[in-house]
Amino acid sequence: MKILVVGSGGREHALAWRLAKSPGLQKVYVAPGNAGTAREHELENLPLSDIEALADYAEREKVHATVVGPEAPLAAGIVDAFRARGLRIFGPTKAAAQLESSKDFAKRFMTRHKIPTAKFQTFADINAAHAYIDAEGAPIVIKADGLAAGKGVVVAMDVAEAHAAADMMLSDNKLGDAGARVVIEEFLDGEEASFIVMADGRHALAMATSQDHKRLKDGDQGPNTGGMGAYSPAPVVTPEVHARAMREVIHPVIAGMKAEGIPFTGFLYAGLMITPEGRIGVLEFNCRMGDPETQPILMRLKTDLTTLMEAAIDGRLNQVTAEWDRRVALGIVLAAAGYPDSPRTGDVITNIPTPTENAVVFHAGTLLQDGQLRTSGGRVLCATALGDSVKHAQKHAYALAHSVQFDGCQMRSDIGWRALK
Ligand code: AMP
Ligand code: GLY
Repeated sequence: MKILVVGSGGREHALAWRLAKSPGLQKVYVAPGNAGTAREHELENLPLSDIEALADYAEREKVHATVVGPEAPLAAGIVDAFRARGLRIFGPTKAAAQLESSKDFAKRFMTRHKIPTAKFQTFADINAAHAYIDAEGAPIVIKADGLAAGKGVVVAMDVAEAHAAADMMLSDNKLGDAGARVVIEEFLDGEEASFIVMADGRHALAMATSQDHKRLKDGDQGPNTGGMGAYSPAPVVTPEVHARAMREVIHPVIAGMKAEGIPFTGFLYAGLMITPEGRIGVLEFNCRMGDPETQPILMRLKTDLTTLMEAAIDGRLNQVTAEWDRRVALGIVLAAAGYPDSPRTGDVITNIPTPTENAVVFHAGTLLQDGQLRTSGGRVLCATALGDSVKHAQKHAYALAHSVQFDGCQMRSDIGWRALK
């Protein structure tokens, strides 16, 4: 059996690594992949990213099923294209991916289905946006409607910053079409968690919980990034919060999307804000797994991932369960110099430890050039390890991370701090 993973980041390396452990699997193709996926012998990189070219390949090579890592191909309709050709694929259709690709769609959907989220309004007109900001005051959150690769959200602590963010998106067009409309929403206070499920259109199977660290610097300071580290499970998601998230968010999304004629299939990621009283509000939906959340989550997955994916594609997620390692997994992102604004590429990477069952350095922005491993993107690697406690997992993952070397490497030294409080 052959499986295809679409994407090139740490999330895709982790997906391919986990899928490759499935019994009966011959090959996991990763398109386009990175230097990490090129090195593992059960994996093979394909220099493809065009949707039709991928579908041609899957058809010709009799690929059994495809799973899509990032949002861009999903929002571009890769699932629709594969299904039109009778190819098995796990992910949402273009219409369902709007939960991530349009914040306005997601907010209106949540309103229709009474899913808890921050109060909001959507604007295309800058004067109306300014007036709303003045009326609401700060703190307030300004979000580009469309996909903006992590640059589309400004949490404004004062009104001046909010006006500037609205100007940047609506008047100066800094984010292009993605910022042609903005959602302005109420600031929610609390602790964030990533709540990810697999969905088959009718049922949802919860993955292990996790927490990401979005800011570049220790203590959650500095600019927003794609994520500087993550761990699983997230203690803030108590059994009560978990039940609430399923009842108030996940089940209404699955039922609501089905009722609206755009059933959701694929990984559904709800970014939750959890108040000290255990109430929850949805900050965002992603129509894919998180990066770097995937790396620690999949390190804890004991059930065969191919079996779960098959069940999801066939609409029988209600018949399977996922088993998780009771230990904590923690992943630390090693980012390039200049990340997130203008990452430098081409730095030589050395001393990556050999992977074990309990510790893997997943690749993201890496490239093999003339036999040498070099940085090729903002987030370069994610050192991920298991431990009996958060403290142990942290110690183990930092030992792994510190053995790797490349010039200008940036990493936080406090991944997991909220779980240690
Ligand atoms: P998003 O891409 O929508 O998750 O937003 C990026 C980050 O901005 C989130 O991870 C939160 O830290 C923050 N954020 C988004 N929306 C809100 C909100 N309504 N209140 C407070 N913080 C928010
Ligand atoms: N780590 C956050 C995300 O994948 O969106």
